Amino acid sequence: PKKEIVEVTFVKANGERIKVKGKEGDSLLDIVVNNSVDLDGYGACEGTLTCSTCHLIFKKEDFDRLPDKATDEELDMLDLAYDLADTSRLGCQIIMRKDLSGLEVRVPATVNDARS
Ligand code: FES
Repeated sequence: PKKEIVEVTFVKANGERIKVKGKEGDSLLDIVVNNSVDLDGYGACEGTLTCSTCHLIFKKEDFDRLPDKATDEELDMLDLAYDLADTSRLGCQIIMRKDLSGLEVRVPATVNDARS
């Protein structure tokens, strides 16, 4: 079956909104990379769960409908992220589905590369 196009808006700390497209099955990290979205330091470990730079903050209603709950590995890595919120997740662990299209996520002002 053909993969559906999904839309995601990244809202930067300075208020800038970046709306991009991806496909079902892409992670939010894939979508940032494939669209060359200019987010400082984002996705430094390329989705291997060792950096926390892909930290994103979701709206509560979106957070609650994300298909996969965070694994212990993700939670450990999130602990190292700056500006942690109750609705924080790591973008490399969020796989887009059709019903998540239109998602709006907040990009924290600063990132912490846990590898350094
Ligand atoms: Fe490094 Fe997600 S890209 S933890």
